[in-house]
Amino acid sequence: MLILAIETSCDETAAAICENGRRILAGEVLSQADMHALYGGVVPEIASRRHIETLGPICSEAVAKSGVAMSDIGAIAVTCAPGLIGALLVGVSFAKSASKALNIPLVPVHHIRGHIAACYIAFPELTPPFCALVASGGHTLIIDVEDYTKMRVLGSTRDDAAGEAFDKCARILGLGYPGGTAIDSLSNGGDDAAFSLPRASVSGNPLDMSFSGLKTAVINLVHNSAQKGEPLDKSSLAASFQAAVSDALAPRVIAAAKACGRNVIVGAGGVIANSRIRRDLETAATAAGMKAFLPPPALCGDNAAMIGCQGYYEFLSGSRAGDEQNAYATMPADASFPDMIGGK
Ligand code: KG4
Ligand code: ZN
Repeated sequence: MLILAIETSCDETAAAICENGRRILAGEVLSQADMHALYGGVVPEIASRRHIETLGPICSEAVAKSGVAMSDIGAIAVTCAPGLIGALLVGVSFAKSASKALNIPLVPVHHIRGHIAACYIAFPELTPPFCALVASGGHTLIIDVEDYTKMRVLGSTRDDAAGEAFDKCARILGLGYPGGTAIDSLSNGGDDAAFSLPRASVSGNPLDMSFSGLKTAVINLVHNSAQKGEPLDKSSLAASFQAAVSDALAPRVIAAAKACGRNVIVGAGGVIANSRIRRDLETAATAAGMKAFLPPPALCGDNAAMIGCQGYYEFLSGSRAGDEQNAYATMPADASFPDMIGGK
């Protein structure tokens, strides 16, 4: 079955044609990062306007590149939550109109479930159950994926997302926006033990995380060295910061997998492109006798193929968006859309 997938939850306008939840026939991603870099972060109104301008052409391009006829497309999948509400509404409105015009079903998809599904594209042998670590710019979650459309959130960040901490540290180090990749490169050759940075544990739920103290510690270090006029080993600070983030992530997803009796862990979201975090996840999984599936960096960041892939499994479970389908800025990954028709 061919699905046209649409993703506009943040600052990437993306469309893809996917087959049976596992194969990408075409995938187009248009990043708006340059437009937002000027402001040091995503400006919601600019994001929405840009989605309006580019979504139609991006969809046409995906269809043309896939080589399939419009009439071969069996359903449309669209990200309906979570994200910037204006940005989401552009994609949802467009998808509703397209599904009416083509007379094919519309499937609502949760963005975080989509990130997890990126792994199905990268690893055809991967099937649930497994425990997933999702680390992106807006979310940091540990999820037990019992089945393709049945999941349980076991832990989450209490404050900043891991990607947000990367972006804020990059900003204070003068590396621009978004800063995850720049910190990753800067850390090369740095000493990850040069700076002693906090590792927060959260009372109540050992699988919950917190990154705001770490972010503040980095900001204070940078300010102090600037005030004293002392040189700062930025490479080692980047390496120490990455080590601290990684120490919060890898042990928790392994602990979650052990508690759930899973022997497979999956990484998902933009932050999983990080070289240190990937290395630590692989090492921790091997030490625990588990297997780690980490999508290639191109599939870690926002894209529409992951939405088309998850959309296929949501379609099989019976989920359909009706005329009332809305977009939601926040929504737990283990909840169902309240206005959805069918499915669970
Ligand atoms: O999943 P994503 O593309 O978008 C959201 O859903 O938020 O994640 C974006 C986040 C940004 O915070 C970005 O700085 C971070 O992923 N990121 C990285 C790396 N590449 C992207 N963080 C650390 N290391 C990287 N190599
Ligand atoms: Zn994302």
